[in-house]
Amino acid sequence: MILLAQLSDTHFDLHERNAERVEAVMAYLADLPRRPDAILVTGDITDTGERGQYEQARTALLADLEMRFMPGNHDDRAGLREVLLREPPTTGPLNQALRLPGVTVALLDSTVPGRSDGELSAGTLAWLADMLRDTPAADAVLVALHHPPLPMYSTVVDPIRLTNPEPLERLVAADDRIVGVISGHMHAMGTTLFGGRPLVVAPSVASLIGGVWEVARPGQVPIDYGPDPSILLHVIEDRRLTTIVRTVPMGGRIAVQPR
Ligand SMILES: [Fe+2]
Repeated sequence: MILLAQLSDTHFDLHERNAERVEAVMAYLADLPRRPDAILVTGDITDTGERGQYEQARTALLADLEMRFMPGNHDDRAGLREVLLREPPTTGPLNQALRLPGVTVALLDSTVPGRSDGELSAGTLAWLADMLRDTPAADAVLVALHHPPLPMYSTVVDPIRLTNPEPLERLVAADDRIVGVISGHMHAMGTTLFGGRPLVVAPSVASLIGGVWEVARPGQVPIDYGPDPSILLHVIEDRRLTTIVRTVPMGGRIAVQPR
């Protein structure tokens, strides 16, 4: 069994609030009797891509656990590479393969510098095809990207979703090893099917954005900063993806039923 934790849309902005929420989530994960095999941070790590925000993220996300960082539309590839990955600050797509026993996670860069919507470039799609060719036939594969490839009934995020889902959908449908596709960007948890596999969209650690049914007038953004931070815990076993959503209470755990 492989256990993956997914944090998304942490939006480090140099203020305390978002950092404290990530610290609570990381403390929860670090204290688990069965710790995750890896933590995936699926984009919008920072709010505006500044180096200082990546420094803040680095401090809060520092853990003795396997970590993977993906860019979102609010991020800056060069800053992410330089501060979080300690790599040269190059600006090309950041595609990564995480190899775990029996499980491969393909982390795809769906960002387009200067734009809010997403796209998988020809180079990224070719990278994925090559990576799948090098992946053992018995492995389970999880595909991760920041932008949901389908509309999720969000007036905020649907117009800035992945603009070219078709090639990825064909790839997913054609490869039995792919157990699911995960994303962020929506600031709400949601699931549907994509290429016949589960598409699981993660909530944001920072805030919640309501669905189309919460919009009272055109242009209103139904954002809610009240809910405690939520993350996803993905279990991959026997080529099946099971996802549990976990809200981490900022006020601490209450283990006895209040009366
Ligand atoms: Fe976001």
